[in-house]
Amino acid sequence: MRTPTPLRNILSLALLASVSTACTSDDMGTSDTTASTTATTSTTETGSTGSTGSTGSTGSTGSTGSTGSTGSTGGSMPFGGEEDVAMGNALWTEIDGHIANWDAYPGKEGLVPGMSPHGAWQQLRINGVAANDPANPVEGYIVVKDNYLEMDEATLDSITVMKKIDGYNPDAADWFWAKYNPDGTLQETPDGVALAGAVGKCIGCHAGGGGGDYLYIND
Ligand code: HEC
Repeated sequence: MRTPTPLRNILSLALLASVSTACTSDDMGTSDTTASTTATTSTTETGSTGSTGSTGSTGSTGSTGSTGSTGSTGGSMPFGGEEDVAMGNALWTEIDGHIANWDAYPGKEGLVPGMSPHGAWQQLRINGVAANDPANPVEGYIVVKDNYLEMDEATLDSITVMKKIDGYNPDAADWFWAKYNPDGTLQETPDGVALAGAVGKCIGCHAGGGGGDYLYIND
């Protein structure tokens, strides 16, 4: 389903050296600074490694590797490759209609004030799997956060989603992450990498969510 582990590691290594970051679209300021410093210093010495890396990425999973790793916060797995985009698009069809049809997260009915980097106002909804036991995510659990600019449903600005897929990314509680425009297209980093998959900046911040489950809502 994902790039096999060894190849993923090679890609991460090759790309770690040359990739700075595209994580500036939202936040994660501190680690961005560190990462880009590292990348700058290592560019010259890894010139030849770099070309090895690009040979690698012309292989079968080339598109995953080459477009995918740009945005991750050093060391995490690539995101935004072809497979992730396909999964992100499929996930949109799963959540399409959620505003009309899904339950609110218990206790979070209606628009509630949100925190940076998400919308100033937000609404949290969950699918049927999640509604069974909202505090304990299992395979198939989906939580959708609609982000609004103002306390007005006409100002929907983005839709952030987490879906639990067993085995997808065991290092970070198996969440698939995605961020959409209101029309269902995936948002992208400034470098044009789709925000779908194991998105480093989502994971980095949600690691602070408490309880090791990467969720803020249930703490
Ligand atoms: C800088 C920190 C930060 C980053 C980066 C971040 N989030 Fe969040 N996220 C939060 C906080 C804090 C909450 C709790 C609700 C709130 O106040 O917005 C939250 C809530 C959520 C929720 C509701 C479930 C929960 O954990 O409470 C979803 C879904 C979500 N974020 C998805 C994403 C996605 C997808 C990305 C990346 C595209 C992302 N987040 C990036 C901080 C972050």
